[in-house]
Amino acid sequence: MLTLDDIKRSPAIKTYVQSADRVMQAMKFTEHGFAHAGIASHVAAHILSALDYDDRTCELASIAGYMHDIGNNINRYDHAQSGASMAFTLLSQMGMDPDETAMIVTAIGHHDEGSGGPVHPISAALIIADKSDVRRSRVRDKADINIDIHDRVNYAVTDSELEVFPAEKIIRLGLTIDTRICPVMEYFEIFLSRMLMCRKAAEYLGCRFTLDINGTKLL
Ligand SMILES: [Fe+2]
Ligand SMILES: [Fe+2]
Repeated sequence: MLTLDDIKRSPAIKTYVQSADRVMQAMKFTEHGFAHAGIASHVAAHILSALDYDDRTCELASIAGYMHDIGNNINRYDHAQSGASMAFTLLSQMGMDPDETAMIVTAIGHHDEGSGGPVHPISAALIIADKSDVRRSRVRDKADINIDIHDRVNYAVTDSELEVFPAEKIIRLGLTIDTRICPVMEYFEIFLSRMLMCRKAAEYLGCRFTLDINGTKLL
């Protein structure tokens, strides 16, 4: 059975994660490389593990999280679908079982808010893990915070934490935003559709999604 370690050791996958991030850098997007892949991988598995899914399902979520943005190699537009096609080829070549490959390509193919939505638990966990990765270290050049709202909002987030409360059936994203850098409204300007997608994903997992910013519950 393919593990997350096998995926991380694959020279081809390493290359595609790296080169996809170079494309994002050239297009002035925030960091989409190993750090984002690692966080999405870890958080997706954590969500399912906290909700008592079996170990293999959690590991498949971590693999989907690690590979979810490789489609940016081809183009940002439709990167979820192109990434799913790339993952299909890579995982098939590595000998993954078709049932498991299907779960992963479906999760990757449905992670973007433009065209996706939660279709199974791994897909739901990936959506929440991906959309909640907002942090200062995703900004490549501090100078860009004056001209780009995505850089400004990410830079303003000084702390973020995703917590799962299985007994209460709550998935909570807590953010600390430095409002001297950007008003909370700017966060919603770019993240509202992503937060609504998180809400749907949490509901798919039988939970409620809550968003706290600077100690105030907003969703
Ligand atoms: Fe993406
Ligand atoms: Fe992503």
